[in-house]
Amino acid sequence: MTSFATHLECARCSEYYEINTVQQLCSRDGGPLLVRYDLRRVQDAVEREELRMRPATLWRYGELLPIERDASIVSLGEPTTPLLDAPRLGQALGVERLQIKDEGLLPTGTFKARGAAVGVTRAKELGVTAIALPTAGNAGAAWAAYGARAGIKVVVVMPDTTPQVIQRETAAYGADVWLVKGSIADAGAVVKRATAERGWFDASTLKEPYRIEGKKTMGFELAEQLGWTLPDVIVYPTGGGVGLIGMWKAFAELREIGWLHDVRTRFVAAQSTGCAPIVRAFEEGADESQPWPDPKTFAAGIRVPKALGDFIVLRALRESNGIAVAVTDDDIAQHMRVAGEREGMLVCPEGAAALAAVTKLRGDGWIKAGERVVVFNTGSGLKYAESLQGAAPRALAAGALPT
Ligand SMILES: Cc1ncc(COP(=O)(O)O)c(C=O)c1O
Repeated sequence: MTSFATHLECARCSEYYEINTVQQLCSRDGGPLLVRYDLRRVQDAVEREELRMRPATLWRYGELLPIERDASIVSLGEPTTPLLDAPRLGQALGVERLQIKDEGLLPTGTFKARGAAVGVTRAKELGVTAIALPTAGNAGAAWAAYGARAGIKVVVVMPDTTPQVIQRETAAYGADVWLVKGSIADAGAVVKRATAERGWFDASTLKEPYRIEGKKTMGFELAEQLGWTLPDVIVYPTGGGVGLIGMWKAFAELREIGWLHDVRTRFVAAQSTGCAPIVRAFEEGADESQPWPDPKTFAAGIRVPKALGDFIVLRALRESNGIAVAVTDDDIAQHMRVAGEREGMLVCPEGAAALAAVTKLRGDGWIKAGERVVVFNTGSGLKYAESLQGAAPRALAAGALPT
């Protein structure tokens, strides 16, 4: 692996930071830091056709990842996730050309594995021995798994309303799991104090620059799977917004090195009406969101009252001529059911929120007839056993036959 990462840059004020130091946020204005690369050298070093010869994992984009040595890689086998045509589901949603990028096949069952694989690898390279993070659930599970693999201590703080399966999964990877009342914001406040007091590495969303580098590989994969083109619309369930920001960054990098020419895809941020700070800020024309007072939705991953990177998400939505939409929990439950029944896909509630956003946007004409739409199902529905829908099983009396 040859990395062409050169430095870290504040997303607010562009302040420069050395790449080989543990730097969490910009010390000038607290802005999130982004990894920057020498893209001219990347362009000279590799042709996009060469990728075909490499294993189908996220590490195939090594030149655009911040990892210095192959030997540091912490991997649980991160496959390229399938991009599936979904014609029967598309028919139900009113769109002819619907594809689902199914992230449920990654280790720990969600796209969070991408951020954790790269984040933990980089933490290991930087000599970190203990990591703490707040989570709505899945990020905690993923960082716990990769931390176990790397032999790094992981402390996870999550709302006590996090689905039981995810709480237990995280503990099963050996992490110290702490439950708090409230939302991920309350968990974040605990982690902030604990990391300051104990000297642990704070892996909160966007408080370290490497998780987003893992998540941007969703964008690389999508572009490659579509023959280095992009769909008309990408719909993404947005909590902290890191996946969306990551893809936005990925497309900018690909354009810069000449692998993508026409970046006209419109981003859609899907949220729940029970927690829709990005939607509200988008509709009000604001540059940043206001904390959502009483966040409520069973789609735990998008129950984020205020994202640190909200201003970047809003910028990406506006610059891409995209939009932010809120859907109800009933819509989410209904779309979980339809995806299972029509395509055999058990999508997570967050993925179902993105599907419900498609129905809404096609209904009001924002998505036009014939447009190519890609929805990110960010995780496996199996992790949300308690939310699974469908007809209840019926008891079969002795000697009777199913009808
Ligand atoms: C399944 C799932 N989907 C979506 C999200 C939101 O991710 P992001 O922070 O990239 O907006 C989360 C975050 O916890 C999640 O667990």
